[in-house]
Amino acid sequence: MSVVALVPAAGRGVRLGAGMPKALVPVSGESLLLRAVRGLLASGRVEHVVVAAPAEQVEVVSAELASLPCAHVVPGGAERTDSVRRALDAVDEVAPDARVVLVHDAARAFTPASVIRDVVSAVEQGAPAVVPVLPVADTIKEVDASGAVVSTVDRSRLRAVQTPQGFALDVLREAYAAAGDIATDDAGLVERLGGEVRTVAGHPHALKITTAFDLAIAESVLALAGD
Ligand code: C5P
Repeated sequence: MSVVALVPAAGRGVRLGAGMPKALVPVSGESLLLRAVRGLLASGRVEHVVVAAPAEQVEVVSAELASLPCAHVVPGGAERTDSVRRALDAVDEVAPDARVVLVHDAARAFTPASVIRDVVSAVEQGAPAVVPVLPVADTIKEVDASGAVVSTVDRSRLRAVQTPQGFALDVLREAYAAAGDIATDDAGLVERLGGEVRTVAGHPHALKITTAFDLAIAESVLALAGD
């Protein structure tokens, strides 16, 4: 039984403003996507990766990943949900023996191998869905439409969610079969069906690169890692 990872990488990267899909933006000469996919395979727990690329850039993305024979590229869709769905549809062909599936944002290119391994292990040990999480450092307030504070949320009970999120393959399929058009969080689809979602410890290096500021942080992460 193998583990397959789905990597939605079909976003336009508008907030990053690099003039290209975010997944192809280089950090120290290598794209976020190449780093993310290589990181999954280097964890030693992922045998196959299905990448959802911008539909008009499937060839560019395939060339980018040519050095990684376990990576397959499919055209993504208009929303992240569509991109994950298309990658999920390719699993039977790419990895017919897969029972565990990860969904990992290309934008979290610096996720440590230990986080990937912990997510896979938790699913293999029977959790239907698993998310890596971090405690929330900021105080969080709920506000109304005018911006006035309604309440202060108990921070000790909150967690920020990262990827890869891990699932029993049949659980993710069922969740997507029931899903509507837009879902930003795959585990949230399992929650909606009443499924249990477990947590493992995330890592600050698994930050999602969204803005130019995040890219600057990513360069610092690389410098710390001695890359
Ligand atoms: O925009 P955001 O950073 O939230 O996107 C999260 C991930 O989903 C990114 O890796 C992005 O490339 C991917 N995505 C996608 N298809 C879309 C929109 C986003 O694969 N239509």
